[in-house]
Amino acid sequence: MSYNLLKGKKGIIFGALDENSIAWKTAVKAHEEGAEFVLTNAPIAMRMGQIKELAEKTGSEIVPADATNIEELENLVEKSMEILGGKIDFVLHSIGMSVNVRKGKHYTDENYDFTNKGWDVSALSFHKVCQTLYKKDAMNEWGSIVALTYMAAQRVFPDYNDMADNKAYLESIARSFGYFYGREKNVRINTISQSPTPTTAGQGVKGFDGFIAYADMMSPLGNATAQDCADYTVSLFSDLTRKVTMQNLYHDGGFSNTGVSNEVMEKFMKED
Ligand code: NAI
Repeated sequence: MSYNLLKGKKGIIFGALDENSIAWKTAVKAHEEGAEFVLTNAPIAMRMGQIKELAEKTGSEIVPADATNIEELENLVEKSMEILGGKIDFVLHSIGMSVNVRKGKHYTDENYDFTNKGWDVSALSFHKVCQTLYKKDAMNEWGSIVALTYMAAQRVFPDYNDMADNKAYLESIARSFGYFYGREKNVRINTISQSPTPTTAGQGVKGFDGFIAYADMMSPLGNATAQDCADYTVSLFSDLTRKVTMQNLYHDGGFSNTGVSNEVMEKFMKED
């Protein structure tokens, strides 16, 4: 069902790798809601991913950019304004990668070159995206920028490794940049803290199957899916949420406020 929530709005969507990606589902939903947007991803991901199929489906153009590279981001923002014929109303940062996780380095045995790379891709890139948009004055008033995060920024999930630190940094950028962008241009910046979701990035986390099943059992509403996340993200891009900014918004079926659920307790009860 479509409500035309994004009719006439123009955006940039980072991070659609394949049809499981949260960014992919968000692009499809934003298209259904009347938005026009440019799709972007790192050049290497273009070769691996199926982004062309998404572009055809949503009538979008693709502009490659490594989100850690300022020149490529500048080119992306300029080209997007040319393609879309004006300033931008919404941006989705849906990017994450830890080299330590990929290479199986434990949190207590980090390779700091890997740490730096993962931090640049997963956290600092969000500042780079915001700063490029800001310097180019590329956002329309009441525009909305959203990044995706995970609750390991607040609580320990041992196998989330250095991504926990990256997410804490990412969430802080949303607050700090949100202050300046809000005060000066009425642009809002938020992070969505999403349930574990079976995507390429998600499944890279060790023990993901146990992790996702546990979260589902702990959450009164069950895990939020990638599709649910797309719906929520679109609401944050819409004019219905114009005074929401600098927030980390939990989108997790209630997981973050649940101490324990009866279903989980039952697993530990001794039989009478
Ligand atoms: P995904 O693997 O489909 O998407 C990650 C994207 O990051 C890919 O499209 C990849 O090409 C892109 N990327 C990596 N390096 C890049 C670079 N240098 N420049 C530009 N793009 C780059 O996985 P998913 O799950 O859709 O990830 C999206 C976001 O959601 C990430 O921030 C992730 O941490 C976050 N998230 C995911 C959860 C999960 O369980 N899957 C839970 C909570 C948050």
